[in-house]
Amino acid sequence: MYTQLEQRGMPEPPVNVSTLHKMKADGEPIACLTAYDASYAVLVDAAGTDLVLVGDSLGMVIQGHDTTVPVTVDDIIYHSRTVARGLRRAFLVADMPFMSYTKPAQALDNAVRLMQEGGAMMVKLEGGDDQVEIVEHLARHDIPVCAHLGLKPQSVHKIGGFKVQGRDPDNAKEMRASAKRLQDAGADIVLLECVPNEVGKAITETLDVPVIGIGAGPNVDGQILVLYDILDITQGRTPRFVKNFQAGCDSPLLALEAYVQAVKTKAYPEPEHCFS
Ligand code: KIV
Repeated sequence: MYTQLEQRGMPEPPVNVSTLHKMKADGEPIACLTAYDASYAVLVDAAGTDLVLVGDSLGMVIQGHDTTVPVTVDDIIYHSRTVARGLRRAFLVADMPFMSYTKPAQALDNAVRLMQEGGAMMVKLEGGDDQVEIVEHLARHDIPVCAHLGLKPQSVHKIGGFKVQGRDPDNAKEMRASAKRLQDAGADIVLLECVPNEVGKAITETLDVPVIGIGAGPNVDGQILVLYDILDITQGRTPRFVKNFQAGCDSPLLALEAYVQAVKTKAYPEPEHCFS
């Protein structure tokens, strides 16, 4: 009865939460990317990506907004559904958009929609201590959760720009304590954005659950980047942690394979992609 979920006729079974936890335990880097449509989802999956995020970054790279704030639950569902159709092996995570998880009941309703209508296997929300109750509520209802810490793009107007977080030792200590509380509340993964290397390392060592970094240095359990950034589609200034993997590759699939290989061998990130 369960063979469909486990095999889908594939040489390698699909990635699930247990796979990701085992990868952390075994020290195997987890290669993650965003995707927003079925065609790229097929390529990202074929390249061997372990986890695919339908991020609210779609507000910027697909919709052309300056921030992720305008993205709605319906937007994420639409894109998640298309990505789900393209994936075979990778684990699918969908973002909870701005203000879609202000109360436990609202968060649960929206998380259920992302899973039932969008095909997501896990939801991601941005938060610290204020989200502990939400994470607990979702976890109690068996909704897998990724907690996003460090730079939280949905708070861009509050923090005054996309800035490195955790440089101040008190702030770094607080972030580490929040990460532990979110894990204890039931978060299955933590995503850490734009923090100094030593903060990424300390949080990764503190937690039992996998820590996926984006601009969080080399000493985390996995890396994630925005698909359009690594394929050199994004024009203008990109963040320090971005690497163009399309350069020197004849096709998007070869570029994606180069990214996965660089994450797996820890060739990415290099010092130039990191913060101190
Ligand atoms: O929305 C997104 O793409 C993200 C990444 C920055 C990880 O949250």
